Amino acid sequence: MQSIPGYTYGSPALNPSPLSLEDLEKLKASLLFTDDDHTALRQAGEVLADQVEEILDVWYGFVASHPHLVFYFGGPDGNPSAEYLAAVRKRFGQWILDTCQRPYDAQWLAYQHEIGLRHHRSKKNQTDGFGTAPQVPMRYIVAFIYPITATIRPFLAKKGHSQEQIERMHQAWFKTVVLQALLWCYPYVKDGDF
Ligand code: HEM
Repeated sequence: MQSIPGYTYGSPALNPSPLSLEDLEKLKASLLFTDDDHTALRQAGEVLADQVEEILDVWYGFVASHPHLVFYFGGPDGNPSAEYLAAVRKRFGQWILDTCQRPYDAQWLAYQHEIGLRHHRSKKNQTDGFGTAPQVPMRYIVAFIYPITATIRPFLAKKGHSQEQIERMHQAWFKTVVLQALLWCYPYVKDGDF
């Protein structure tokens, strides 16, 4: 795999997640996330792998068309920073693959925690050295669950799978986006309340 600047998945330097694997299992059960969803996500990974750039074009287009969202990619002059957007884009593409292909284990949990910190003021703007907005508000992370889920469906449907298979992949995608978005909320929540 080509190395992606700032992508530290699996690095021993990462802090472990504050959640245990048992906590993760309970969350998955609460989301009705089963082994069938892992299987469906692996299939989704095969479907999406060569469409990553087109997916990112859709998501970046969505963010760019809303000034209140692209604000969080702003540089020192307050305008959207092309360098910052481009740097994050590479890791965002890798995230699509990781979401479908990686085992959801302690390493995965640790990188979820890291992604949460990178949206929060504890670590935003540090990885690439760009960016001025101190943090992405938690409310937008939760709101994004819908567009990130709704917009993936046409891409899942592009490789000739049956409606039933597409639906299964889409439901699994929806569950994992909820799971990850909620894990990223951790740093925003008062100690003991998560
Ligand atoms: C970073 C996904 C919500 C703005 C990232 C990364 C991913 C990602 C995969 C790169 C993580 C890494 O460094 O490896 C998502 C998903 C979201 C979401 C799936 C919701 C379901 C948002 C929202 C905004 C936003 C609502 C605000 C417009 C950013 C910014 C960064 C980033 C500015 C770079 C942070 C830094 O300085 O390191 N996001 N994101 N994200 N995202 Fe999000």
